[in-house]
Amino acid sequence: MSEEIPALKAYRASILHFIANPAQLNVDESSSYEYFNDGLLVVEDGCIKACGDASELLASYQQAGIALEVKDYTGKLIMPGFIDTHTHYPQTDVIGSYGAQLLDWLNTYTFPMEARFSDLDLANDVANFFCDELLRNGTTTAMVFATIHKNSVDAIFNAANTREMRLIAGKVMMDRNAPENLRDTAESSYEQSKHLIQKWHGQNRLSYAITPRFAPTSTEKQLELAGKLFAEFDGVYLQTHVAENTDEVAWVKQLFPWSRSYLDVYDHYGLLGERAIYAHCIYLDEQDHKRMADTQTAMAFCPTSNLFLGSGLFDMNSAQVMGIPVGMATDVGGGTSFSMLQTLNEAYKVLQMNGQSLSPFQAFYQATLGSAESLKLDDKIGNFEVGKEADFIVVDLEATPLMKRRMSHADNLKEQLFALMILGGDRNIAATYTLGECRREKV
Ligand code: GUN
Ligand code: ZN
Repeated sequence: MSEEIPALKAYRASILHFIANPAQLNVDESSSYEYFNDGLLVVEDGCIKACGDASELLASYQQAGIALEVKDYTGKLIMPGFIDTHTHYPQTDVIGSYGAQLLDWLNTYTFPMEARFSDLDLANDVANFFCDELLRNGTTTAMVFATIHKNSVDAIFNAANTREMRLIAGKVMMDRNAPENLRDTAESSYEQSKHLIQKWHGQNRLSYAITPRFAPTSTEKQLELAGKLFAEFDGVYLQTHVAENTDEVAWVKQLFPWSRSYLDVYDHYGLLGERAIYAHCIYLDEQDHKRMADTQTAMAFCPTSNLFLGSGLFDMNSAQVMGIPVGMATDVGGGTSFSMLQTLNEAYKVLQMNGQSLSPFQAFYQATLGSAESLKLDDKIGNFEVGKEADFIVVDLEATPLMKRRMSHADNLKEQLFALMILGGDRNIAATYTLGECRREKV
């Protein structure tokens, strides 16, 4: 009889996942996470069935007569897949382009590349590469800009769907201050976005994000229609950029002279709220912060991009004190790495330059459960609570000679995690699973 029931899949390794925001606990950080030195993660139908101490769980399954097929990753660390809350797949091929701040960089590199995405073959090719690269870096969920072309959205959703990744994406809306071949109109952007919502939103693990690029490239009419869409469709997301660069902020003041602040432009059109994710958020004032907190609008912290484009220093402490949700983000290709580990490394340094700190526990919380919370997906992903989707990664802490040596001097989990985020990268990701299936394994 028992042979007819397929064995449950289980994974044995050290296991770490977060159950709370370390910053919100005024006791010590140790109550924000669970760690099992010899742990077992049990998966059924793509979801977490159990997570705990290996010997205890193995004994209880044996007692119950339930067969487990155990994959042994002893010596490695299993944690939830990383969540990237802001990135641009069409910018994959301009990552690391020399020498400019935001507005020049957009005109010189980004717009010419994005114009090429009218070609569906190119879009499919880049979308497939982009998703593979996310998985290779341990990222299982991402919130992604496409281009103004409808086809470019189909390409990224198809690529994510094939790999059963959780993905939020949308067509860029842009009807002024952009090259002619990258402009839509307020009405066409509304109609096309609506059609894409109907086609993709809620399909498998995919969700749609209304995507006005940023205030300077939209007319007031287009922002108004973006707000209309956001109100019309339950559960859809909104993504855009705000207050990244001082020249950009001054330009917005010129274009929208009536506005109290850059954020106020978006607020005016009903674009704040839960499931609205704003990239950068560097040059905001207290009133803006209060508005984001009151509406539970999320910030995407993009440290590699903020350093690379010379944009400025994110204020994490204010966001935390105000209770604004914060997600971690690569912002490829203004950002310089697909790796969430490298992103945490640069986040630590940005905050150091701003007189703040980022403990390793806070950092890994932000890259997993914290980002899930900022996307209102923490009922589905972000940790190993029973019933959540089984997106996880297997981390090799000793992937390079230097890391092996450094880890031998790390006396506790906190030191190990810190060395991992400062020295780590794609080479530390030994395997990546989505919905309990291995999508990529390092050989
Ligand atoms: N602001 C408007 N568009 C962009 C973009 O593509 N990248 C970044 N970093 N900022 C932007
Ligand atoms: Zn961006």
